[in-house]
Amino acid sequence: MSASETVRYVAFAEEHLDEAVEIEQLSFATPWGREAIALELDRPHVSHYVAAVLPSGRLVGFAGMWVVEDEGHIGTVGVHPDFRRRGTGEGMLRWLLRRANELGVRQLTLEVRRSNAPALSLYAKYHFDRVGIRKGYYRDTGEDALVMLCSDIPGSAARPRPGSPDHAAGDDDGDTP
Ligand SMILES: CC(C)(COP(=O)(O)OP(=O)(O)OC[C@H]1O[C@@H](n2cnc3c(N)ncnc32)[C@H](O)[C@@H]1OP(=O)(O)O)[C@@H](O)C(=O)NCCC(=O)NCCS
Repeated sequence: MSASETVRYVAFAEEHLDEAVEIEQLSFATPWGREAIALELDRPHVSHYVAAVLPSGRLVGFAGMWVVEDEGHIGTVGVHPDFRRRGTGEGMLRWLLRRANELGVRQLTLEVRRSNAPALSLYAKYHFDRVGIRKGYYRDTGEDALVMLCSDIPGSAARPRPGSPDHAAGDDDGDTP
């Protein structure tokens, strides 16, 4: 059984906070920190966060978006370095897309470093198009952010993983969406 088959996608909860902080530190040059992540839990009407967990309960990734009316913005997607390239980032993005679709989101945006080839490839796979540039957006290096937009949420949410007749193993594991 591959790692992607054993990962479950569940709503992010307080029990995931400590490991989320570690994943953030390992994944981002300017991590938000525990308090900022914890704040997201206090805004359930706006913040929608998914946790990718192993059967042992270990958190291997988390991702989240903010939704206001029919617009959504993905704020973070991170997978522990030891668990990358196993379908977890994709599984979390699919969870967010399905939640966005359920909520009636029409447009989903995000920002990504111009040099972040893995993330750009992941977003391209789910029909995010480049619609703008924020010059010098990242304060640590002055790197530009590319603004990406997905305006076919139902299509992207329904998109099966390659090689799968329907949904990927590990998806829809009893937790919504
Ligand atoms: C981007 C990230 C979330 C991808 O997570 P992951 O679990 O490794 O990705 P997956 O295994 O689900 O891969 C899904 C798709 O992403 C793309 N991808 C992932 N890693 C890649 C890499 N190293 N090189 C190129 N494409 C890559 C591919 O399109 C892949 O599809 P494929 O398997 O059909 O080629 C992960 O690399 C990460 O946490 N990076 C650090 C944090 C970050 O940059 N987050 C995004 C901020 S906008």
